[in-house]
Amino acid sequence: MGKFYITTPIYYPSDNLHIGHAYTTVVADALARYHRLLGDEVFFLTGTDEHGQKIQRRAAAVGKDPQTFVDEIVANIKSLWKLLKISNDDFIRTTEPRHTKRVQQIFQRLYDRGDIYKSEYEGLYCTPCEAFWLERQLVDGKCPDCGREVEKVREESYFFRLSKYADRLMAYIEAHPEFIQPVSRKNEMINNFLRPGLEDLCISRTTFSWGIPVPFDPKHVVYVWLDALTNYITALGYPDETGEGSLFARFWPAELHLVGKEIVRFHTIIWPIILMALDLPLPKQVFGHGWLVLDGGKMSKSKGNVVDPVVLVEKYGLAAIRYYLLREVPFGSDGVYSEEALVLRINTDLANDLGNLLHRTLSMVEKFNGGVVPAPGANGPLEEALRAEAGRTCQAVQEHMAQLEVSDALAAIFQLIGRANKYIDEAAPWSLNKSGNRERLETVLYTMVETIRISAVLLTPYLVETPARIFNQLGLDTDPAAQGLEAAGKWGLYPAGTRVRKGEPLFPRIDWEKETAEGTPEAGGVKAAPATAEKKPEKTASPKKEEITIDEFARIDLRVAKVLAAEKIEGADKLLRLQVRIGHEERQIVAGIAKYYQPQDLVGKEIVVVANLKPVKLRGVLSQGMILAAGDGETLAVIRPEKEVGDGAQVR
Ligand code: ME8
Ligand code: MG
Repeated sequence: MGKFYITTPIYYPSDNLHIGHAYTTVVADALARYHRLLGDEVFFLTGTDEHGQKIQRRAAAVGKDPQTFVDEIVANIKSLWKLLKISNDDFIRTTEPRHTKRVQQIFQRLYDRGDIYKSEYEGLYCTPCEAFWLERQLVDGKCPDCGREVEKVREESYFFRLSKYADRLMAYIEAHPEFIQPVSRKNEMINNFLRPGLEDLCISRTTFSWGIPVPFDPKHVVYVWLDALTNYITALGYPDETGEGSLFARFWPAELHLVGKEIVRFHTIIWPIILMALDLPLPKQVFGHGWLVLDGGKMSKSKGNVVDPVVLVEKYGLAAIRYYLLREVPFGSDGVYSEEALVLRINTDLANDLGNLLHRTLSMVEKFNGGVVPAPGANGPLEEALRAEAGRTCQAVQEHMAQLEVSDALAAIFQLIGRANKYIDEAAPWSLNKSGNRERLETVLYTMVETIRISAVLLTPYLVETPARIFNQLGLDTDPAAQGLEAAGKWGLYPAGTRVRKGEPLFPRIDWEKETAEGTPEAGGVKAAPATAEKKPEKTASPKKEEITIDEFARIDLRVAKVLAAEKIEGADKLLRLQVRIGHEERQIVAGIAKYYQPQDLVGKEIVVVANLKPVKLRGVLSQGMILAAGDGETLAVIRPEKEVGDGAQVR
């Protein structure tokens, strides 16, 4: 068996965490649990990034010293992970002595090797992102990552020789296509950062004090991203505990750094170069997933629209929240969070499909066989088909999880659950009971139970507690996760003769109409849009539309956008997913043009988009706008400005 070292970003304890942070952490947890089920040796690390100007300012704003301030929030973060049943093996805080002393050792080492030198920094700084920028990188004078104001800073600083390693990094990225995933993010890193050339990085600050002092020049504190990124190795003991058998020797390099797309740059440019300078191997993969956004845009405290995972778990239960986060959005894409969609998932997949399968099965075992699961007789074609389906499902789960397609892995398991429900309808145990066909009846009952056992084992990484509840109702006192993935692949492990223990339904249905009618506020106070009946198109669609005024036309915000990346969407052959930039904003747009354009045809081109169109989901993928194209069904052409005008420009 292999080993699997997986990390999440270490989060800023500047506020309590929201559903977006829970998303990354739950996905990482599912991957960690899956690898344990596979038999791999797993190390799963998460933690908090506690230094820097942003935290110092936040603490000052509420009149607390920074350490007291972060201690309180970190306690909440730890209890959130407990609530969500996160199975991390360690939790690193960057204010812990084990980390601070190692950051100093690393800084010293880089300095001794000549990769750090002292100079003066004069430039721009975005405090919310804790990022340095050059004038030419700004968009409309603002931070290109978050669109907020930047500050001028001028101070004596230590610099890290990023430029010296730029070619080596480029060669590495090109030789290791799996290193930066999804591919669109890799192209973005190459085109937007590596090609234009890397500048040396300022890695110390003197104008505030909340950080780790530079060991040989303590009026400087270490730049918070250098401090933060090294957590992935300091937690394993680097540089002072690296001997045989140490965590570092066993687990470095990481198999996977899971991060949100906005911090891919730090993890695929700065971090690998730090590792190169230390002569350490690079992580096998950095995966930059998309964002969970709300109907009204990105979640933020200042907008007052963050969704609190604690409220959701209290309201709907752990399994429902984990299932929703893992299932709803194809991993990698942006997705819209909505409580209505969450309820729909609970009702259809969890209550109707999974809950019902268990409930029906146990009722029939009770009614037709006194509550004891009989030994099967000979399989007929229906049983053979279901058994083959179970085998294929195990295979599919493994293939999807190897590609980090967590949502697809869950979809495959629920497809098996759906098939099992269909099998019951077809095999009709009630008629077998009526006609007294005992042998067939026994075979059918056993087949139903065994399919549930397999599904429960497969579900352990995702739903955590539900599979154990299912095992309990099946009369089993073993832990489904302990059975391992291999047991899911073997038919017939359920011990015939076991007495079942039918209990409460796993997932009671939720009446959404009632929930909203009674005015129950949604977590975070966000109301779902009412389900309006779709208007039927006019019967005889006239080629011309009704006359409008110039003011009406002006309501449509048409903008020039630059295509940064384009990708096919798996399972949707008409759709392309485009990553576009409109001024300082990046968006994801789904367009039905895959029949007419190859993804690479559009990359780097300027196109025209409707920028103020309400975001929608197409095949579960968020689309924040629409591109303009003309065609007659035979051909289709994307509308482009006749010469380059720069993205963000208005079209009138
Ligand atoms: O960036 N959708 O910390 P951070 C999906 N301390 N994921 C989201 C999200 C959303 N709406 N909002 C946050 C930092 N995340 C640094 C990291 S690592 C060495 C240092 C997740 O508190 C996502 O994983 O701002 C994102 O990258 C991370 O939280 C940012 O957390
Ligand atoms: Mg952030």
